[in-house]
Amino acid sequence: MAQLKTEVIGIASGKGGVGKTTTAINLAVALQMMDKRVLLFDADLGLANAQIALGVRSEYNLGHFLAGEKSLAEIMVKTRQGLTLIPGGSGVQELAGLSHLQSASIVQAFSTLTEEIDFLIVDLAAGISPSVMTFLGACQRRFIVVKDDPSSIADAYGTIKVMSQEMKLDEIYLIPNMVESQSAGWKLYNRINDVCVRFLGQPVQYLTSIESDELVLSALKKYQSVLEMAPGTGASRDYRRLADFCQQLRPIDPLSGGLQFFMERLIHNKPEAL
Ligand SMILES: Nc1ncnc2c1ncn2[C@@H]1O[C@H](COP(=O)(O)OP(=O)(O)OP(=O)(O)O)[C@@H](O)[C@H]1O
Ligand SMILES: [Mg+2]
Repeated sequence: MAQLKTEVIGIASGKGGVGKTTTAINLAVALQMMDKRVLLFDADLGLANAQIALGVRSEYNLGHFLAGEKSLAEIMVKTRQGLTLIPGGSGVQELAGLSHLQSASIVQAFSTLTEEIDFLIVDLAAGISPSVMTFLGACQRRFIVVKDDPSSIADAYGTIKVMSQEMKLDEIYLIPNMVESQSAGWKLYNRINDVCVRFLGQPVQYLTSIESDELVLSALKKYQSVLEMAPGTGASRDYRRLADFCQQLRPIDPLSGGLQFFMERLIHNKPEAL
């Protein structure tokens, strides 16, 4: 079996409704359009948001995996866009309250997947529950989506604080979303980064912002990504830029963390220099 390197990116926010799922699905579609093999993991266990946004109706979901009825490979579905999707919970189970141990068992199951994957994008639930933190810790990079409103900024900062101080995680990137312009997004990033440097002693990184674009909601209403429905619109351009930057990121030291998605592959792909 070929052991290929997979880039693992977790998408979180703190506050709900700021655009995590939208960022996750459009980044995944943009990478797919650039001929990357993408696995999207809907780890928002309460609602099947990613499925809906991609126009997928799957029979099984993470609830079946957790009940021991299906393997991870058995709940995976191919979407119309060519992505592989692991659907989240159906809202029936009390999945939002998943324990650290249950989340860790999900992370470990990824090592059993034999698919060749370039990018694993993990769409997380809002908040900083133990399961969100376990998943974030198991990613190589963490993207924090933030909107320019006081509660979103406070919650994004709170999430960064827990990650950097209690969990000693780095590779944290801020993604300003629904901004008026790229320069407004850059300013928002700088405001938050200044606070991180001052109070946490650690900067956060920046790739691009995503502009507010009414076609994002129009696409959602049609069960499509905005990249499919309106490839020329502002937000689509921003998601493509984000996907471009993701491909330029330097490889991470595979043995830097604890529990990781695709641990086996990481160990087998340990760079010579390490
Ligand atoms: N760049 C954007 N421009 C315009 N609307 C956007 C943009 N990004 C997201 N939205 C809209 O904001 C709403 C919330 O987005 P989304 O569901 O992605 O948030 P979320 O952070 O995943 O929410 P939750 O915390 O509930 O999982 C949706 O209606 C979506 O269409
Ligand atoms: Mg969501």
